[in-house]
Amino acid sequence: MEQSQGISGRRVLVKFGGNALSGEGDLERFGRDISSLLNAGFKPILVHGGGPEISQEMERRGLKVKKVSGLRVTDDGALQVAAEVLSRINAQVVEALTRAGVDAHGMAGSEKGTVIAQKMPPVTTEDGSGHEVHVDLGSVGEVSHVEPSFLEELMGDGIVPVIYPICADEHGSALNVNADTVAAHVARAAGAKEMVLVTDVPGILRGGEGSKELIPSTTLSEIDRLIEAKVITGGMVPKVEACRIALLNGVGTVYMLNGKEPHSLIKRLVHGQDSGTKITVG
Ligand SMILES: Nc1ncnc2c1ncn2[C@@H]1O[C@H](COP(=O)(O)OP(=O)(O)OP(=O)(O)O)[C@@H](O)[C@H]1O
Ligand SMILES: [Mg+2]
Repeated sequence: MEQSQGISGRRVLVKFGGNALSGEGDLERFGRDISSLLNAGFKPILVHGGGPEISQEMERRGLKVKKVSGLRVTDDGALQVAAEVLSRINAQVVEALTRAGVDAHGMAGSEKGTVIAQKMPPVTTEDGSGHEVHVDLGSVGEVSHVEPSFLEELMGDGIVPVIYPICADEHGSALNVNADTVAAHVARAAGAKEMVLVTDVPGILRGGEGSKELIPSTTLSEIDRLIEAKVITGGMVPKVEACRIALLNGVGTVYMLNGKEPHSLIKRLVHGQDSGTKITVG
């Protein structure tokens, strides 16, 4: 079934990170931007993370925060906090959308068996002294299947799905999945033409985390070189891997945008203005 005809009904996956919308007025502005996207004829699906908020809440409860290759090591305590914090953020986002006049449905990835995950095998990383070690991340999932029918139903009724990345395996056990990874698989399954990853930096920075020079456009092979050179580190690693999943599975273009830059989403998608990093297969 052909889903999109020109811009009208054009599906776009918009994923935003925990830090991107945490400032004063950020959520309200985002709600209005999604309303503008709908008015411009787009059909958005939203996915969000909540990394910084989860870490803060874990620290408040005296739990140790540990990340490996940009992924959170998730024991039972961390899973509990992640599920609570993400569902609270989800409710706040849905409220902000409602205030902006947007019909939205908040859901975990696990709702109606939408995103099926499986436990991720141990990841290989380096310990402090340069030795390779294998680390079991606990209840961290990788996506094995997306069933888009519930999302189709919502969108058919003019309702914007807002997904947080607590997913379940085929037995119903909860798994914490990186939000960018969920976004990429949902974008693919829903036939999105574009995926936008809204984060707290202007895009991929050429000098690495904390540097200034933005890479305005790049390809998957250049990204491989940037990972190899350790320019891309931390949370940017699963983010660029998500770009790869999306682009190799039918999503035409991926953009990384700064959520702190007012209306970057509208500038990019509606007006076609350059902003952030544009990623293509190359
Ligand atoms: N080359 C790079 N360019 C830009 N950012 C980088 C780079 N390498 C590492 N980073 C880090 O990646 C971070 C973005 O990923 P992070 O997972 O923290 O945020 P997010 O995915 O937007 O949010 P969430 O994880 O809550 O969904 C940046 O804040 C920056 O610290
Ligand atoms: Mg992240």
